Amino acid sequence: MALKLARHITGNFKVVSLWDSFHGASLDAISVGGEACFREGMGPLMAGVERIPPAISYRGAFPRDDGSDVHYADYLEYVIEKEGGIGAFIAESVRNTDVQVPSKAYWKRIREICDKHNVLLIIDDIPNGMGRSGEWFTYQAYDIEPDILCIGKGLGGGIMPIAAMVTKDKYNTAAQVSLGHYTHEKSPLGCAAALGTIEAIEQGGFLDKVNADSQFVREELERMKATYPVIGDVRGIGLLWGIELVTDQRSKARAYAEAESVLYECLNQGLSFKVSQGNVIQLSPPLIISRDELCRALNIFESAISKVCRDYKYSSI
Ligand SMILES: Cc1ncc(COP(=O)(O)O)c(C=O)c1O
Repeated sequence: MALKLARHITGNFKVVSLWDSFHGASLDAISVGGEACFREGMGPLMAGVERIPPAISYRGAFPRDDGSDVHYADYLEYVIEKEGGIGAFIAESVRNTDVQVPSKAYWKRIREICDKHNVLLIIDDIPNGMGRSGEWFTYQAYDIEPDILCIGKGLGGGIMPIAAMVTKDKYNTAAQVSLGHYTHEKSPLGCAAALGTIEAIEQGGFLDKVNADSQFVREELERMKATYPVIGDVRGIGLLWGIELVTDQRSKARAYAEAESVLYECLNQGLSFKVSQGNVIQLSPPLIISRDELCRALNIFESAISKVCRDYKYSSI
């Protein structure tokens, strides 16, 4: 729906997205999505999609010695100027899977390019919105504002199905256009859950809690990274963390077997999580997790990492 609104507002139907991105499973969403596996055997797809490389800090397509990532944003301007007719750029401000956290400079540059070329910035905050980043919405950590914001998942407390598209008031211009008209649009139960969730986050002081938890998790994971050679990279924000396992710190070869062993060792001890890209442990606990539970989870994780280093004969750092 956000893409339809962007077309309506700008009159331009083309969109730029990021390789490796995921924005949903419908035909238009897989058309803009950057994961080829979702498009395999599907089609015809929505036309007018250009993709650019994402800003990836640990193993990006175009790494810089100084670690800067603004050149990935410059690529957007290049495509806008070469292609023409671009109405929107869509991306997650922090990619949930497998946790990619661009710099503030990257997002400032993206906003600047969108403003300069009259391209709408659509931020997909469906998995990370509603407090996971320690802000209500992840873009706030970057000091920018999108033109269109998409939220879901956490909006209904992660349980009730409800999603929303939020725009600036000046874009509230589509009253005469059939953008939506879905059966479960305007669900009263979903709205009640969303209001309840907002109230719970506000009254429970969850944003402050997530920020404090974030600092704690960062320190613990950085300590583990300095201890266990199988940990190649630690990255995250709020209560979303990715721990990338590698067989060799220099070559960054992905440690698939080790990641699977860590997963099963943790499952045996009662800790469950997702493994992304086959080697990135993704820790994404509920925002209500207590500090005791967080410590228990990290202890289980560390004991599994330590066991894997022993079993796979990693020499210590
Ligand atoms: C970044 C992102 N965007 C969009 C979606 C799709 O949300 P929905 O399934 O509610 O369409 C997902 C689902 O996982 C997601 O991770």
